[in-house]
Amino acid sequence: MLKIISTSDGSNSIFNENIGESYHSVNGAIQESQHVFIDAGLSQLSLNKISIFEVGFGTGLNALLSLIYSENNSIKINYDAIEIKPLEKKLYEKLNYNEFLGNKFQSQFLKIHEIEWNKTFQISKNFVIQKINDDLKTYKFMKSYNLFYFDAFSPNVQSELWSKEIFYNIFSNMLSGGILVTYCAKGEVRRCLKDIGFYVERITGPVGKREMIRAIKPI
Ligand SMILES: C[S@@+](CC[C@H](N)C(=O)[O-])C[C@H]1O[C@@H](n2cnc3c(N)ncnc32)[C@H](O)[C@@H]1O
Repeated sequence: MLKIISTSDGSNSIFNENIGESYHSVNGAIQESQHVFIDAGLSQLSLNKISIFEVGFGTGLNALLSLIYSENNSIKINYDAIEIKPLEKKLYEKLNYNEFLGNKFQSQFLKIHEIEWNKTFQISKNFVIQKINDDLKTYKFMKSYNLFYFDAFSPNVQSELWSKEIFYNIFSNMLSGGILVTYCAKGEVRRCLKDIGFYVERITGPVGKREMIRAIKPI
């Protein structure tokens, strides 16, 4: 069972009652997504064309923040996001991100949710997205990416997604100099990424979390 919750910065998230975990930090959904994925990930790449793969599309907040970044900075983004359990309309239409990010991008946010799965759509001048309705555990990447947003549920409740096989698959489908960012800072995950060949950084986490991981594929 999924339900809408309000986080500390006022922005909504979703709480999954079956596993007892929310889609974002309760200390603020927008502040977490902006810090972990945009500031520590997207803004670190000095490219004018960036391909992104997101693990766990969920509320679409990371996609929305990436779209806003692409338009504000005139950077072309090709965004692929995998999701095993798409949110129903009655939930995504209640998400209140426009109250904080402005109404300017609300129609694009709804469009991102409403477009068909497994097809590519241009949403704005610089932002193209494909939502993939599939299971990451068996998914075969069709191209390589500059940036991975690893936003699965935590290893405590979904350890199978934080496996060496999955991270190796990501490493193999990442372009040189590419980045993986995740809110998680677990030693086990850091060591696994290091063993695969990533250069792993422990950097300051979002509000409420001391650290997070940024992993870079060496050039
Ligand atoms: C922590 S939530 C994050 C969602 C999203 N990034 C957001 O900002 O709302 C994790 C997401 O991963 C999805 N997920 C869980 N298992 C998955 C799998 N095996 N393959 C693809 N997506 C999965 C969940 O349904 C959920 O939407």
